[in-house]
Amino acid sequence: MLETLENQPADKIIALIAQFAADPRTDKVDLGVGVYKDAEGRTPVMRAVKAAERRLLDAQTTKSYVALLGDSAFNEAMADLVLGADRPRDRIAMSQQVGGTGAVRQLFDLARRANPDVTVWLPDPTWPNHAAILKGTGIPFRAHRYFDPATRGVDFDGMMADLRGMKAGDVLLLHGCCHNPTGANLTLAQWDALADLLAETGAIPMVDLAYQGFGDGLEEDAAGLRRLAARCPEFLLAASCSKNFGLYRDRVGLSLVIARNAAEADRARQNLSALNRLSFSFPPDHGAKVVEIILNDPELRADWKAELEGMRSGMLEMRQAFAEALRRATNSDRFDFITRHRGMFSLLGATPEQVQRIRDEHGIYMVGDSRINVAGLPAKGLDRLAAAIAASGF
Ligand code: LMR
Repeated sequence: MLETLENQPADKIIALIAQFAADPRTDKVDLGVGVYKDAEGRTPVMRAVKAAERRLLDAQTTKSYVALLGDSAFNEAMADLVLGADRPRDRIAMSQQVGGTGAVRQLFDLARRANPDVTVWLPDPTWPNHAAILKGTGIPFRAHRYFDPATRGVDFDGMMADLRGMKAGDVLLLHGCCHNPTGANLTLAQWDALADLLAETGAIPMVDLAYQGFGDGLEEDAAGLRRLAARCPEFLLAASCSKNFGLYRDRVGLSLVIARNAAEADRARQNLSALNRLSFSFPPDHGAKVVEIILNDPELRADWKAELEGMRSGMLEMRQAFAEALRRATNSDRFDFITRHRGMFSLLGATPEQVQRIRDEHGIYMVGDSRINVAGLPAKGLDRLAAAIAASGF
């Protein structure tokens, strides 16, 4: 039987982790996978996470099952964090999830259960796993214009023109903030225009929120999606705690559904519960419990917010310093767009051949589409990096 299995294409982001590890050069630079690193190149366990884990260790008396939808206190605290305290309460269904990826997968499955003819609309470009999950599950998808290579900003006119093709019941996937891979984000006026278009077409927004707090701030990063949540009768959201709580390997996320009324929310809840049962039964508890402890404890919450804010401002400073290094190296301001981008990533706009060349010649690893992880930039090696980029003909 197994001889019929086909070879699988490697995920281009995950494959880079192994390639980087296998490179013997000591001056190599990892700008690949979206993992935060501090100035020393470490991905620390956040202070509040350590403190919450200690509390949990002391207080936990059982490892028995919690519930198919996970820990409801975690789900409620996360919904407040993402949507704000004045969110609708009776029209919401939620499930604790296995990371942001688990939530994305589950919401695609839910959308197909609700509408077997669903087409999912993805920005071009987007996180490669969006398309991979849809391909893997056989859900049709279409791309819409998003990034304008000339301005390195959002091609909003192109995006709107393409999205006029959405049908009622289609799903529009949007990055809540910190667009991955481009770093180019929608303005609030553009979120409003999208809400109008969704109302006209009857398509449903699905927001992937993997970097809340990494862009302009915790509240600011959620401002656009909150406008959609307030206006759209139906709304889907996949949230990840991998980056903003640094809980990558613990796999913590949330699926959230806003339905038109309480009865439909209840059916959505039953379906989320059934989808969990047939995938893994109960979501893993540890990381979600840690998040719940932090969000519901004023002191830990304040410390978490302060540390997150430090990470965010560090990335902004790094953007500024890197753009300045590139100015010096290229004698031009053509990389200044890096300072306008937000979040962990910027798409530099180089060809795959140029990306390969800089990897081979300088040991600088970025994703093949020329996405860099800003948090991976070496504070002390920016000039060398900028010189290498200039020499590689970017
Ligand atoms: C990334 O885009 O690098 C991160 O979201 C990690 C991943 O799972 O791809």
